[in-house]
Amino acid sequence: MVTKVVPGQLVALQDAAGVARDAATRIAKLLRAAVARSGHATFALSGGNTPRDAYALLARESGVDWGKIDLYWVDERAVPPTDDRSNYRWARSTLIDPAGIRDERVHRMKGEAQDLDAAAREYETLVKAGVELDGDGVPAIDVAVMGIGDDGHTASLFPGEPTVDIHDRLVAAVPAKGAREARLTLTAPAIEHARNIAILVVGAPKRPALERIWNAQGDVHETPGRVIRGCRGSVTWIIDKAAGGI
Ligand code: 6PG
Repeated sequence: MVTKVVPGQLVALQDAAGVARDAATRIAKLLRAAVARSGHATFALSGGNTPRDAYALLARESGVDWGKIDLYWVDERAVPPTDDRSNYRWARSTLIDPAGIRDERVHRMKGEAQDLDAAAREYETLVKAGVELDGDGVPAIDVAVMGIGDDGHTASLFPGEPTVDIHDRLVAAVPAKGAREARLTLTAPAIEHARNIAILVVGAPKRPALERIWNAQGDVHETPGRVIRGCRGSVTWIIDKAAGGI
C-alpha cells in the first residue's frame, strides 16, 4: 500500500488564476517577513510557464520593499538573456520591470556563457557572497519559487541525470539532451536549505509527478522533485485541483 505524505502545507485552488493570486499573496508575505526579520531578503525564481502570472501579480503587491530584496535564479536555460526561453527574460517582463527592481538587485545566471561549468562556479561564488548562511554554514535563500515538470523534475534536476546527486556544490551545469537545451541549476543542497519554498503546480499532466513526489517511498533519481522532501524550511504546495487530482 503506497502511503502519501505531502511534505509541508498543501493549498489547492480551483484553477491557474487562483494559484497565481494565492502564490503572489503568500510570496509577498514571506518577503515582507524576511525583510522585517533581517532588513534584507533573498528571493530565487524558477522559470517555466506556471509562475509568470504569479510574478505579474507579485509586482503589484503592496508593502514589498524591493530595494531590500536580491533576486537570484533557481535555474536558467543556456540561451541569451533576450531569448524567449530565458527564465531571466520572463522574470524581467513580468516582475522586475513592473516592480521597478533595480539592476543591482538582480543576479541572473549567465546562461549565454560558452563555459557553463565556469558560469556555475561563478554563480556559486555570487550566491555564497550574497545569501545569508544558516546554522550549517550553507547559504539559505529566504524565499524560493519552484515548479514541477510533468516528468517529475524541479529546477533543472532531471530524471536520469546525475545532477540530483551533487551535494558538494550549490550550482551545476546540466548538459543538453535531445531538444532540451543545456541548463544552469541550483543543486539539492541549495534547495534543501532555503528558508521558505513555494511550489506552484498547475494542470492534470502534473498529477503523476506529484503523486511520485508525495509518496512516502520513491526514488529521487526517477523523480528529482523529491528533493523538496529534504527541505528544512517551510514548504507550501500551491496547486490547482487538476494537478492534485482533487
Ligand atoms: C524551467 C523551470 C522548471 C519549471 C518546470 C515546470 O526553467 O523550466 O525552472 O523547473 O519549474 O519545468 O515548468 P512549467 O511551469 O512550465 O510547467
